[in-house]
Amino acid sequence: MAWPPSATPGTKLPPQGRHRAATRSPAPGGTAAVFLGLIFAASAVLLAQTANSEPANSSSQKQGSSGPVYAGSETCTACHEDISQSFAKSPHARIAGRKGWEERACEACHGPAAAHAESGAAEDVKNPLKLAVKDTDAICMDCHRNEQTAVGRLRAGHYRNEVACTACHTIHQTHEDLVARAPARQNKQCASCHSQVWAQFQRPHAHRLREGAMKCTDCHNPHGGFLSPSLRTVSANEPNCFQCHGDKRGPFTFEHAAMRMQSCAGCHEPHGSANPRMLTRHEVRFQCMECHSNIGTASGTIGGLPPAFHDTRNPRYRNCTICHVKVHGSHVNRALLR
Ligand code: HEC
Ligand code: HEC
Ligand code: HEC
Ligand code: HEC
Ligand code: HEC
Ligand code: HEC
Ligand code: HEC
Ligand code: HEC
Ligand code: HEC
Ligand code: HEC
Repeated sequence: MAWPPSATPGTKLPPQGRHRAATRSPAPGGTAAVFLGLIFAASAVLLAQTANSEPANSSSQKQGSSGPVYAGSETCTACHEDISQSFAKSPHARIAGRKGWEERACEACHGPAAAHAESGAAEDVKNPLKLAVKDTDAICMDCHRNEQTAVGRLRAGHYRNEVACTACHTIHQTHEDLVARAPARQNKQCASCHSQVWAQFQRPHAHRLREGAMKCTDCHNPHGGFLSPSLRTVSANEPNCFQCHGDKRGPFTFEHAAMRMQSCAGCHEPHGSANPRMLTRHEVRFQCMECHSNIGTASGTIGGLPPAFHDTRNPRYRNCTICHVKVHGSHVNRALLR
């Protein structure tokens, strides 16, 4: 069977919270009671499935030896009118243009559902939200595997951490629900699980995500990447920072070796900082002294020492970047003075 197999009986339910992003509209009358009800209903499905001795889904059983039978999308409309209407306007309506799925786009994700169309019973149809994460993702990947993207989706840190496609992509509503591209909407979606990261963006010196001028995916690929942690890259796998801060890229006539020893995040906090310029240290000189230290032991000294005339007890020499303005590299001056 070409179609991804249904969940094996007794598959553990994924936690609802991970499958569902907080930005999604709540269940109608979204009370705790309804939520508990959902869990109860879900457990009932599991029990029903577990009670079934055969791995085949009940639809094929009801169809006898003829195998799974499709009902066709028209049939679904009779009982799921709202979903059918919004689905018709969604990008996934284009599934109907694919060979083999012309009249049965709904069943491309829900599996052959003739038995369900007769019974109206939940256990006769596949609901991706109720499957194990890998089975949910398998449904999506069946069409979205070898697409033109920077990296394969299964590499994703999210996949490894049991966050399903459906945690971020909601199928039946608007296009905006399907893909949160608008910055404010996307940041809210990511923040719903990464609240600590979001808190960092509230610090005094930060990229302007709070204002909706930037978004998480300016720096991260939610589907994974070669640079950890799922960082987006520009040519030759360099960090995406250069897309906007190209002047820091070089090649410089006079490089600052620190740039090769450390990533940008060695000196900056990309999610925001209490320190000006998003530095990791509250004074620039402490940043520099991590390597250019003439106080520490020899083994604690990584870079070159500042020349003797740099008397760091003298306040004049404390603000290193007053003189060394080209701290990321210079085209004209070896000492990075201009
Ligand atoms: C005769 C009416 C009827 C038809 C036709 C019908 N459904 Fe349903 N469907 C229902 C009802 C009622 C429920 C709610 C079942 C429950 O919660 O116990 C439901 C629930 C579902 C669910 C959720 C199951 C779950 O586990 O939460 C899916 C998915 C679904 N239908 C898909 C379809 C698809 C796809 C079609 C067309 C092939 C279809 N339905 C045709 C009545 C119908
Ligand atoms: C691209 C995959 C995909 C297609 C195609 C699809 N669905 Fe769904 N459906 C899902 C997913 C994923 C869920 C789980 C809830 C969610 O993310 O919206 C779902 C949930 C449901 C539910 C139960 C939850 C609810 O919102 O009440 C019903 C009923 C349903 N779909 C019916 C349909 C019908 C009818 C069609 C065709 C008009 C259809 N689906 C086409 C992926 C799909
Ligand atoms: C039967 C094939 C099929 C399946 C299964 C499928 N999709 Fe799609 N998906 C499509 C098609 C066709 C489009 C429309 C865009 C296009 O033409 O490439 C699309 C579009 C999308 C888009 C929007 C792309 C954009 O740039 O706007 C997202 C996000 C998406 N799908 C996610 C999912 C998720 C999540 C699932 C699993 C629940 C899923 N898809 C299952 C065929 C499929
Ligand atoms: C953590 C959230 C998250 C998860 C999990 C996730 N996506 Fe996405 N996806 C996004 C965001 C955000 C975008 C839009 C990226 C942007 O800003 O352009 C996107 C874009 C897409 C697109 C549009 C084309 C593209 O590549 O930009 C498709 C198709 C898609 N995702 C499919 C999937 C599938 C299939 C899975 C599961 C294997 C998945 N996504 C898992 C957040 C997620
Ligand atoms: C449903 C919850 C959920 C949502 C929504 C979500 N994440 Fe995650 N994310 C996780 C979990 C769980 C992990 C793994 C544990 C951790 O590192 O916090 C993770 C890990 C990550 C990591 C680090 C791990 C790695 O190697 O990639 C990044 C980066 C990340 N998420 C970015 C995003 C972005 C960007 C978005 C929005 C497009 C997003 N997340 C939305 C749950 C979520
Ligand atoms: C300006 C670029 C940038 C933006 C915007 C950004 N990140 Fe990051 N993020 C990074 C970098 C760089 C790292 C690695 C930091 C390190 O190596 O110490 C990182 C690390 C992470 C991690 C793993 C380590 C940790 O701090 O938990 C997560 C999760 C994460 N980001 C999520 C997010 C989310 C969610 C958003 C949006 C609210 C976001 N990021 C926006 C650049 C960015
Ligand atoms: C999408 C474009 C974009 C990307 C990608 C980006 N930045 Fe920025 N960055 C900006 C903008 C715009 C500002 C100016 C912020 C403001 O409005 O105050 C800025 C400012 C900064 C500042 C200076 C803040 C100050 O107080 O002057 C630092 C440091 C910085 N970015 C580091 C990084 C690092 C490190 C990365 C990669 C992890 C990165 N940026 C990725 C757009 C970007
Ligand atoms: C060795 C530490 C160090 C490293 C590594 C580093 N920076 Fe900086 N960066 C600084 C210091 C110090 C300042 C503040 C300069 C000042 O006070 O004027 C700064 C300032 C900035 C600024 C704001 C002022 C300006 O010059 O535009 C941006 C943007 C910036 N850095 C981006 C980056 C990016 C992108 C990377 C990675 C390619 C990076 N930095 C790597 C130390 C570093
Ligand atoms: C991660 C370690 C590290 C940090 C942090 C660092 N540097 Fe350096 N820096 C080096 C190394 C290594 C060299 C090369 C020393 C050599 O060739 O002897 C260097 C060289 C220099 C040079 C001389 C360039 C030359 O070739 O003569 C200057 C000036 C300099 N750094 C200034 C600074 C300033 C100012 C800061 C703080 C903003 C700073 N550095 C932070 C490691 C670092
Ligand atoms: C008042 C301006 C000024 C300040 C402030 C300053 N420097 Fe310098 N620095 C210089 C000059 C001038 C040179 C020598 C240039 C030359 O030799 O051509 C130099 C050279 C250096 C060198 C290169 C040494 C070598 O062997 O070539 C390093 C490393 C350095 N400074 C680090 C620092 C650090 C770290 C700080 C902050 C604690 C700092 N400087 C503050 C003016 C300054």
